[in-house]
Amino acid sequence: MPHVITQSCCSDASCTFACPVNCIHPTPDEPGFATAEMLYVDPTSCVDCGACVTACPVDAIGPAHRLPEEHKVYIEINRVLSAADPANAALDNPDPGSRSRPPMAHAVPPKRLHVPDGDEVSIGIVGSGPAAMYAADELLRYGNVTVDVYEKLAVPYGLARFGVAPDHTRTRKVAELFDVVAKDPRFRLHLNTAVGTDVTIDELRARHDAVLVAAGASTDRKIGIPGEDLPGVGSTTDFVAWYNGRPDHTGDDFELANGRVVIVGNGNVALDAARILTAGRDELLGADMSQKALARLRESKVEEVVIVARRGPEHSAFTLPEILGLTDERTVTVDPDPEVAESLATGADSPLTERKLALLESLPTTPQATHGGPAIRLRYFTTPIAIEADGDALVVRARHTTTGAEVDIPTGLVLTSVGYKGRPVPGLPFDEARGVLPNSAGRVLDDDGAPIPGVYVTGWIKRGPNGFIGTNKTDSQETVAAIAADVAIGVVSSRPAPKARGGRLARLLRG
Ligand SMILES: Cc1cc2nc3c(=O)[nH]c(=O)nc-3n(C[C@H](O)[C@H](O)[C@H](O)COP(=O)(O)OP(=O)(O)OC[C@H]3O[C@@H](n4cnc5c(N)ncnc54)[C@H](O)[C@@H]3O)c2cc1C
Ligand SMILES: NC(=O)c1ccc[n+]([C@@H]2O[C@H](COP(=O)([O-])OP(=O)(O)OC[C@H]3O[C@@H](n4cnc5c(N)ncnc54)[C@H](OP(=O)(O)O)[C@@H]3O)[C@@H](O)[C@H]2O)c1
Repeated sequence: MPHVITQSCCSDASCTFACPVNCIHPTPDEPGFATAEMLYVDPTSCVDCGACVTACPVDAIGPAHRLPEEHKVYIEINRVLSAADPANAALDNPDPGSRSRPPMAHAVPPKRLHVPDGDEVSIGIVGSGPAAMYAADELLRYGNVTVDVYEKLAVPYGLARFGVAPDHTRTRKVAELFDVVAKDPRFRLHLNTAVGTDVTIDELRARHDAVLVAAGASTDRKIGIPGEDLPGVGSTTDFVAWYNGRPDHTGDDFELANGRVVIVGNGNVALDAARILTAGRDELLGADMSQKALARLRESKVEEVVIVARRGPEHSAFTLPEILGLTDERTVTVDPDPEVAESLATGADSPLTERKLALLESLPTTPQATHGGPAIRLRYFTTPIAIEADGDALVVRARHTTTGAEVDIPTGLVLTSVGYKGRPVPGLPFDEARGVLPNSAGRVLDDDGAPIPGVYVTGWIKRGPNGFIGTNKTDSQETVAAIAADVAIGVVSSRPAPKARGGRLARLLRG
């Protein structure tokens, strides 16, 4: 029986490197990698060796015959993804796994970074999330590199710690991988150090040969409708930070005494928030989360979470593994609507979407007592146009995006979940519209489009707020390749004389 990739796949792709027979796809060098919702094991060529199981940082892989009942569906999903992969079809080959391994640019980096005018190379990294930690891992493969990470919070690892849901315990395990990187004697972590406030970019540039910004996307997008700033209207960005106990959100609170919560947007973050809001009283006991939030959630009177999306089911932003996980654990319904029925019947443009639509089609339109407890309603073709106060409660005025019909949805809490947004880093150019540092393959560009020597970017602040934890690994590999190339030709000077280590920054770090 082959091995199978399951729900917590984070696209880190370590498994593709570990696999001796190249049966896990898409690999980072294959075309579908950037958009894949998960990787798959090609069952026809898996030799069942288990090398991928050891390599996976989030326990997403297991042998088919030992999968827990709720993960058995992934045997079929891996098979369907394998059969549908155009790269396999293009080979016109009955044995898809026999396609040859593409060249892996980063598989065997040189032992030392080639430096024309010096020896040691010192890199300062802003942020300690997955992008920073994967970059540090990549950089420390060079024996002559030291890495200093500056993190504004008192706890490292960014959204891997304060974003990933507390009940996604396998995914949280990625922190163990980052702990290994952080143990390297050439890695130094400076917590409670906000770049732009406690230290400036210029101070970091004076101290390090290169500065790599991995600050993520720390705020949220707004919808831009009247009433968005009313009390009782918040964002999943804040809600997630609150239940995960992010130190700067411990004072937050959310209205959970009303029977209904409306979430706008249907990405994976919306699903996470809905799952936490509908957890049974004792379900989250023992989870690594804010105890204050846990106490509030246990008193919650929420009976229904309505997730509204402006487009149809075929454009659902959530991924197949996440909706599968949700429907396993919760009562989920799809609001009846002729447009939805039409879209479910005709909207599939890929086997993955087909599978997603089949799952949505199988859901009831009214709650059935499958799981008991609060229900989650998926509502499509609906966009809020205003939020109004109604005594202690709120009313979301929404419009059907195809018929134009208006509907009022009474609620106690509205959470917008329309995506994260990067913030400017003082001292560096910023693309306000996209919320990223303008860059070319990780080299930060000035206002004239020229690379700023020695300044780089990776992760969500480089490409925007999308992708899984492991997506940042390939992203960081690209940026580190740019750094290595620039060091080799002297764009990044390691300076034979040691850099000035004194001054305000040194004093701050000693403090
Ligand atoms: C709610 C949520 C749940 C998710 N769950 C999953 C999941 O289950 N599986 C999965 O694969 N992916 C998940 N993701 C996606 C994944 O978390 C992201 O792809 C990843 O965290 C982005 O990495 P990053 O390093 O670019 O940003 P971040 O993780 O945001 O890290 C940025 C770091 O920089 C720090 N920082 C910011 N500004 C400064 C500054 N000025 N000075 C110093 N430090 C600074 C921040 O405090 C933070 O620690 C989730 C995302 C969200 C939002
Ligand atoms: N378990 C996991 O693996 C996991 C968990 C959480 C997050 N993540 C990842 O983290 C990334 C961010 O997730 P996310 O959920 O924040 O973002 P997302 O996937 O980009 O979803 C954003 C949602 O907001 C909607 N939206 C955007 N602007 C809107 C507007 N003005 N009005 C109404 N709706 C609007 C989008 O609809 P349109 O499509 O119509 O624009 C979409 O439904 C994703 O790549 C996600 O997969 C992964």
